[in-house]
Amino acid sequence: MRNRRAALAAAAAAVSLALTLSACGQNSDGGSKAKTGDVKGATIGVAMPTKSSERWISDGNNVVKNLESKGYKTKLVYGEDDPDTQVSQIENLITQGVKGLIIAAIDNKSLNNVLQEAADAHIPVIAYDRLILGTRNVDYYASFDNEKVGELQGTYIVHKLGLDSGKKGPFNIELFAGSNDDNNTKYFFNGAMSVLKPYLDKKQLVVRSGQTALNKVTTLRWDGATAQKRMDDLLTSSYKSQRVDAVLSPYDGISIGVLSSLKSDGYGSGSKPLPVVTGQDAELASVKSIIAGEQTQTVYKDTRKLAEVAASMVDDSLKGKKPQVNDTKTYDNGAKVVPAYLLQPVSVDQSNYQKVLVDGGYYTASELK
Ligand code: GAL
Repeated sequence: MRNRRAALAAAAAAVSLALTLSACGQNSDGGSKAKTGDVKGATIGVAMPTKSSERWISDGNNVVKNLESKGYKTKLVYGEDDPDTQVSQIENLITQGVKGLIIAAIDNKSLNNVLQEAADAHIPVIAYDRLILGTRNVDYYASFDNEKVGELQGTYIVHKLGLDSGKKGPFNIELFAGSNDDNNTKYFFNGAMSVLKPYLDKKQLVVRSGQTALNKVTTLRWDGATAQKRMDDLLTSSYKSQRVDAVLSPYDGISIGVLSSLKSDGYGSGSKPLPVVTGQDAELASVKSIIAGEQTQTVYKDTRKLAEVAASMVDDSLKGKKPQVNDTKTYDNGAKVVPAYLLQPVSVDQSNYQKVLVDGGYYTASELK
């Protein structure tokens, strides 16, 4: 009898907890519970980080296109790489009554308060490309296998220098990482270092500057000019009588900055060839640079597919369906493990840009001229 009463009391408590969670706009897994039902013609807010990089412009346009094809209206905003601006833009979107949010964060930790407002208003939130940290109020994450991006960059360097086919080196390498407030940065860096470290340990790769720790090599807001300045400093301090053979760059905007610095130092002419320089995003300027024999490689991420995944996640959430995910373990944001759908990145260089980017319809042949 006593057991039965206890069991009934526990069941009643569970029901009441579920009701409380749903009344305050939370799923039992901590995400904001979408108000399902008539979502036809609802407006979705899309917050992108900056227009200064071409990729985010395409991302924004592609997300809008996908949402519109599903019958939604959209409001697309760009935060110009300023975290406070992005917070107030998202606040405005909530005030304007958006029914869902897709956010590529500028600073991964600055959105906690505004996302509480989103949860209170039952607005599902999709973290786009960059994970939002420290809050339960993020429902899904759409991105690429970020560790794999770094592995592709590291593997490319090892292969291009011939280290995997018996060359002993030593080769000089310098390391660049992304913005320290972007959660992707450590995944890219760790992925690359997992491949490079054995060669660094054996001194077949040497970082003459000694700057190998992540906190020594980050580039605030992924800024190309900041990277260019750091490369200038490295060349002055460590390469007066030595040559750089490779530069690990996590992103095309950084690669372009690094290449400007190298070229002003005489690399790319006469007996001073440009080093192997990696990148990411297959931005137009970098693909042209690859074709011209300057940047060596980039990692292509099909943002058309990413936009499709994110738009479907919002759509499904609003219709009470479970969005498709393929990773429920990796992306712990400190408050919960965010269910994710990860797409696959592809390494691109002179040998395959035509097949991947042109035949794949990402760029037309004339855009690359
Ligand atoms: C990262 C993103 C990269 C690159 C970088 C700079 O978050 O994953 O693909 O775009 O930002 O914009």
